[in-house]
Amino acid sequence: MKTAALTARTRGVSLFCLSRTATSCALLAAALLSASSAGDRLWAGETPQQQDARMQWWREARFGMFVHWGLYSGLAGTWDGKPVGTKGGMEWIQQRVKADTDTYAQCAIPLFKPSADFARQWAELARDAGCRYLVFTTKHHDGFALHDSKVSEYDAGSVLHRDLVREIVAAARAAGLRVGFYHSVIDWHHDQYAYALSKQLPHPLRGKPYPNGDRDHAKYVQYLHGEVAELMANYGPIDVLWWDYSSTDFQGDEAWRATDLMALVRGKQPKIIMNNRLYRIPQAGFTGMGTAAIAPQLDRKYGDFITPEQHIPPTGMPGVDWETCMTMNTTWGYSDHDQAWKSNETLIRNLIDIASKGGNYLLNIGPKGDGSVPQQSVDGLRAIGAWMRTNSESIYATTASPFEKLAWGRCTQKKLADGRTRLYLHVFDWPADGKLLVPLQVEKPAEARLLAGAQALAVASGQQGTTVTLPPTAPDAIATVVVLDVAGQFKTLPAPAQADGPAKDKPH
Ligand code: GLC
Repeated sequence: MKTAALTARTRGVSLFCLSRTATSCALLAAALLSASSAGDRLWAGETPQQQDARMQWWREARFGMFVHWGLYSGLAGTWDGKPVGTKGGMEWIQQRVKADTDTYAQCAIPLFKPSADFARQWAELARDAGCRYLVFTTKHHDGFALHDSKVSEYDAGSVLHRDLVREIVAAARAAGLRVGFYHSVIDWHHDQYAYALSKQLPHPLRGKPYPNGDRDHAKYVQYLHGEVAELMANYGPIDVLWWDYSSTDFQGDEAWRATDLMALVRGKQPKIIMNNRLYRIPQAGFTGMGTAAIAPQLDRKYGDFITPEQHIPPTGMPGVDWETCMTMNTTWGYSDHDQAWKSNETLIRNLIDIASKGGNYLLNIGPKGDGSVPQQSVDGLRAIGAWMRTNSESIYATTASPFEKLAWGRCTQKKLADGRTRLYLHVFDWPADGKLLVPLQVEKPAEARLLAGAQALAVASGQQGTTVTLPPTAPDAIATVVVLDVAGQFKTLPAPAQADGPAKDKPH
């Protein structure tokens, strides 16, 4: 029946059948919810130590791959034979062209043709770049689910007779990666999703009356919970749930029955780490996408980490777990028309910058409709991988820089087993005179070497700080890492003013 309904839809017939599944889905979701109350108690009673243990792998990972991939990927930013634009999220193409789901699905489904081993390619690319985890779109705002769902007929199981979530999870695990699900709570396809309840959340039909009379948003929410219950139950341990997203006028319990939804997830996956986007309130560290709207606080009942999007918080956020998600060009979902690719220098320095501020970098790829990764993304990730093969020790399991500002680059640090502190000095601007001035006063002589090649370097202490003598030219023009091991107490000093003025435009 599923297949017949879908075939009908791909020919452009109405999506009426989806509303009929809402009732059976409601029953399923209710049953799953009552089974999750034990998990709810466990989470609410979690001690700070238990939480630290749960967060440990994520805090040490520092680098993950984000994947936006779905029906929109095959459309590739083109509608009706014309580019929809050259900038911005083409996973929003349905909204950009204001298409209803029948029209959108009819155009997009024939172009979404995953190859047999696309997932292995992603996973190996991520692993070789040095990513420790992979978060991918199980469902984006268009509502098309990548798994084989019993509560939906707008899913890969119905359309392709494949469970793409299972394929991706298996490939990620085989490559030794942790796995996360990005799941959109916004859903443009569901006939009970009551878009008029929010003036802010996007919907292709916004401003128009509901096509088939009143909508009962509670039914959509039951469907959402049923879909999430499947994803949490059927794919083994899942490490991250990356919700997207809420608006200030529609969020939390009102919009998604968020408390229950999180309890359902915790009940099935007690170790999972969730972001904060089921909410959009200051206590959840989320009032908007830009830097100014990020509140450097998070009440843990709203999620485990906050999600600066497309930007790096200038001073990090001590005491708050955060992850910057970012695209390699300007779109999350694949577009043929966006050529604004970030340079390898930017990608590598962003990773370092974020680690130096104590955050994670979730770097996005937008594979094409067949699952292949755009060459520019492959090249960028390979460049990061090459840098990481020499320098990953200065990224993984490090903590934020002890310095307020460094004129020539960034710093990460780690406690050594012998009690010393290891500072990883990431030199972006190689000093012309070969003297790297580190604004640091030490009690005992520090030891320095290049991380690559282990060449020992001379260190001198003075009033101004500690000076490391470097080789005349930078071994790595993008970022050379100098290791400085410091015993006993040390004091950081304000960075001396640079001859060419303070680098106030650089994120720091
Ligand atoms: C936004 C967009 C979306 C993208 C996401 C990634 O909220 O709606 O398309 O998936 O951010 O952070």
